Amino acid sequence: MHKPMATTWLLLLRFGLIALFASAAQAAVVEHTFNLGNLSISQLCKPARIITAVNGRLPGPTIEAREGDTVVVHLVNGSPYNMTIHWHGIFQRGTPWADGPAMVTQCPIKPGANYTYRFDVTGQEGTLWWHAHISFLRATVYGALVIRPRGGAKAYPFPTPHREETVILGEWWNANVYDLEQMAFLTGIPAPHADAYTINGKPGDFYNCSHANQTHKFQVQSNETYLLRIINAALNTPLFFKVANHSFTVVGADAAYTTPYETDVVVIAPGQTVDALMVAGAAVGRYYMAASPYDSAIPQGPEFSKTIGTALVEYIGSTGEETPQLPWLPEYTDTDTAFRFLSNLTALVLPGKPTVPLSVDTRMFVTVGLGVSDCQPRQLFCNRSGTVFSSSMNNASFVLPTAVSMLQAHYNNASAGVYTRDFPDRPPVIFDYTADASNNATMQFTNKSTKVKTLRYNETVEMVLQNTRLIAKESHPMHLHGFNFFVLAQGFGNYDAKTAAPQFNLINPQERNTVAVPTGGWAVIRFVANNPGMWFMHCHFDAHLDLGLAMVFEVQDGPTAETSVPPPPADLPLC
Ligand code: C2O
Repeated sequence: MHKPMATTWLLLLRFGLIALFASAAQAAVVEHTFNLGNLSISQLCKPARIITAVNGRLPGPTIEAREGDTVVVHLVNGSPYNMTIHWHGIFQRGTPWADGPAMVTQCPIKPGANYTYRFDVTGQEGTLWWHAHISFLRATVYGALVIRPRGGAKAYPFPTPHREETVILGEWWNANVYDLEQMAFLTGIPAPHADAYTINGKPGDFYNCSHANQTHKFQVQSNETYLLRIINAALNTPLFFKVANHSFTVVGADAAYTTPYETDVVVIAPGQTVDALMVAGAAVGRYYMAASPYDSAIPQGPEFSKTIGTALVEYIGSTGEETPQLPWLPEYTDTDTAFRFLSNLTALVLPGKPTVPLSVDTRMFVTVGLGVSDCQPRQLFCNRSGTVFSSSMNNASFVLPTAVSMLQAHYNNASAGVYTRDFPDRPPVIFDYTADASNNATMQFTNKSTKVKTLRYNETVEMVLQNTRLIAKESHPMHLHGFNFFVLAQGFGNYDAKTAAPQFNLINPQERNTVAVPTGGWAVIRFVANNPGMWFMHCHFDAHLDLGLAMVFEVQDGPTAETSVPPPPADLPLC
């Protein structure tokens, strides 16, 4: 009597466990609560200061998911500021209301209010991140978003590393960043540069003051392989990244696998991520990991922080007393090194992954750069000519609406007074974009507007991004929400289709969500508009985004409910 019972139990248990494992391999729900609030923190020997942070941490929590999982984040805004969070690089297919840029896909979450972000991570593996998408608040409101393959770390298309480390590069200000943004807007004078670069929130040993607990430490075991998930969360600075006596094999960027690429320096613009393998193959001891700025502006603009942020790589077995070695770092203006790294990456072509579309429906040629605009009514200070710094795409300087989000206006067929559908496919004037002689008051002038480019569902777009010499040439990190794009080619000077087109990489171009357009140069990107909604495209320097270096793609609904913008979630914040 008892024996069969026991067998049945065993069988049940076995099947139960099998069912459990089977469902663990299926999509899971990864749920977090983000409590936004004040954090008192002291950096660089300054008196403690209040910043806005998630769950009392800087950087905020890492979200870890597997491909196909659903991520649910309950945002509880206990901060004194209006807030939104953007899941940088996530496609948000079918969930455009969860994308996060303030006034593009949602109104801000007011102090004391809540909003739940709910989205799937499908068709993407690698390192992405999340950050505030309002004012300059992402300076302290950011964290990593790691997506592993369904089969876990064993399923990487490269040798399984022994360990993984998240390396988030950031910037630190001694002043309140919300006030800095307000001042920059009211005066038309760009906000001052950061006071320090940070690695995992900490500035390291090369600042005036370095007391205990200001340096992040990575412990490594000799001869083990580490997967470094490097994220540039800095507001305004592209960075060089090195570890003394170590080199890297890059295996991914912007959550897309790359052909393994050997290098001893990683170059990473704000918004970008790089996944790199590093073997702990040096002598047992201590080594600095360092991030130093790449200042691409020609001529050089306002003073920038010529300092370096560091962390420590400490071998197990070291005494902890060794003087760490510092890596040799490129010059601040080393465009050759930046271009070599950024243009040499190629995609790892895998079965089932999207490939570059070979036919194009819409061709756009878009200038990106700085300029001037008329002083706005709220601006307190203006220079003598009555203009303020501005920036634009195709000479349209983007301003966010204030009464309703663009996605709500789109969904309700009520664009009137919110945006217009006349973002141009070409600049209003053809000129010598990168010549010093073009930099005059007439060419610099741009008007404020809220223009979108409307695309049919599934249309293929090719966009040439052309930097200008107006005010200064600079490498603008252009980020597109809602899609990855393929980077077909990049170069310096004015784009010339005749010489560039034959050099397009149509075999294995790198796939990205943010491209650092070379300073005084151009980049060609292609994407398929297979995601209905309102998708922000902008420079990932917050200083430039604020000045208007942005536009929005309005992607129309497809033929089915699944290919249409769904109704907004019930808790969507209203303005
Ligand atoms: Cu990471 Cu619209 O930005």
